[in-house]
Amino acid sequence: MNLEALLSARLTGILDEPAVRRSPHADFQSGAALALARVRRKQPREIAADVVARANLAGLASAEVSGPGFVNFTISDAVLAAAATEVARDPRLGVPRTGHPETVLVDYSGPNAAKELTVGHLRPTVIGDAVVRVLEWLGHDVIRANHLGDWGTSFGMLIEHVINTGDDSYQRARARFDTDADFKARAQRRVVLLQSGDPETLRWWERLVTESKRDFLDAYERLGVTLTEGDFAGESSYQPWLAEVVDELTAKGLLVESDGALCAFPFGRDHAPLIVRKSDGGYGYATTDLAALRYRTQELPATRLLYVVGAPQRTHFAMVFAVARAAGWLPDGVHAEHVAFGSILGPDGRMFRSRSGASVKLAELLDEAVARAGELTTDPAVAAAVAVGAVKYADLSSDRTGDYVFDWDRMLALTGNTGPYLQYAYARISSILDRAGAVTPAAVTVTDPAERALVLELLAFEPVMTGVAGSLELHRLTGYLHTLAALFSTFYERCPVLRAPDGVRESRLTLCLLTGRILRRGLDLLGIATPARL
Ligand code: ARG
Repeated sequence: MNLEALLSARLTGILDEPAVRRSPHADFQSGAALALARVRRKQPREIAADVVARANLAGLASAEVSGPGFVNFTISDAVLAAAATEVARDPRLGVPRTGHPETVLVDYSGPNAAKELTVGHLRPTVIGDAVVRVLEWLGHDVIRANHLGDWGTSFGMLIEHVINTGDDSYQRARARFDTDADFKARAQRRVVLLQSGDPETLRWWERLVTESKRDFLDAYERLGVTLTEGDFAGESSYQPWLAEVVDELTAKGLLVESDGALCAFPFGRDHAPLIVRKSDGGYGYATTDLAALRYRTQELPATRLLYVVGAPQRTHFAMVFAVARAAGWLPDGVHAEHVAFGSILGPDGRMFRSRSGASVKLAELLDEAVARAGELTTDPAVAAAVAVGAVKYADLSSDRTGDYVFDWDRMLALTGNTGPYLQYAYARISSILDRAGAVTPAAVTVTDPAERALVLELLAFEPVMTGVAGSLELHRLTGYLHTLAALFSTFYERCPVLRAPDGVRESRLTLCLLTGRILRRGLDLLGIATPARL
């Protein structure tokens, strides 16, 4: 259901810019007359009055001029009631599957093997998973790609260290590499052994990668993230094609030699190069990404590629996409997009770290969240759902492209735009419905302003989801769900439900049912559980 679209359709031919917006002053509002007045050198209110006189809104809405020249629209109660009745009977809650399904590859999480997950992995994992859930629900064919960092120089030191000592700590291997020249030389030889396929080295590598994949899968399960074993597409899996990719780029005249390295300069020689083969003949992160992209658009093939990776990699992806486009691997109609996100900050406004200055381990962060959530509920399963929900919601409700401050008290608060607030709202509705017995959707009637405001919001799920699918701004969905829960709360305070007269009672229960279903669906799309009781 999309009331905006219905209204806009009635205004085409009357306004060049027929779009209307939700407004605090009316159901919908258009400011088009103000812009038009400047062009036509007329009074805005005059133009607005003309729009009101000419628009055929019969059976849908009424219109009036407001303020300096806005047009305010009020949807008729009968239309609202009929639309809500229809949406309440629709298993898709008024949100149809897309008419243009695409094959979308979402590259997300992408941790580096042999290292522990830290708070730094929260955003790429949680945002990516919400994007996947949203696009899948809208009917796209989604391919999850977990671009595991499972290749390269860090494995040289780690394997050498584990063979010498039996200890598989990346941090200790790194420390030794930095201080012990003899170890460093051996670690570098070990990289060569790994890349040339030495069986013993490969066996160790395999063991380390398998173990860390298992740890990652445990973390995903705990986080309620849908990535599985089959979604790992590690950097190592593109090894067989790296030389071929470089040859193809060379043949297309896209590479130049610079200090012994092969480089692409997609933005000209004044800008930094993309190094596709290092001077020692080795391939790095950029080459792997080019090979992965080529595979994704040529072999899979996907028509939309989304890379959910932190903002600092902006230039890297801009260069990879530009080179790929020049090579013909991103033809017209195929889109690659860096879905960038900002950092998580500590209370001091700097990068979020533990007191000792080390990066915070994800497992420890979740343990603390569970401990804190334990103060809100006695059921351990519910505490886990509240904890994970609070952490995810805090992340997804902040504008993706900006930084946000990690604040325990705020994210676990029972009021405000938080996960626990929405989970409570859902549980409350569940208990109302339980008390009512079996509720099936009935005809909705609109009798009270609070009821009317709730209906208007229930009907906005479709435009919100359409917007989120395009912009991948998940905070628009959280904002919507929060407003919906708040409007429900006002409705429930003002309008008796279980004690309402026959007819009204069924209508109001239908609104409870629909609100609960949209909250549940919306939270599920964000990867957040909705326990029936808290
Ligand atoms: N492993 C990388 C990192 O830790 C992230 C991978 C992102 N995906 C990609 N296709 N480059 O920075």
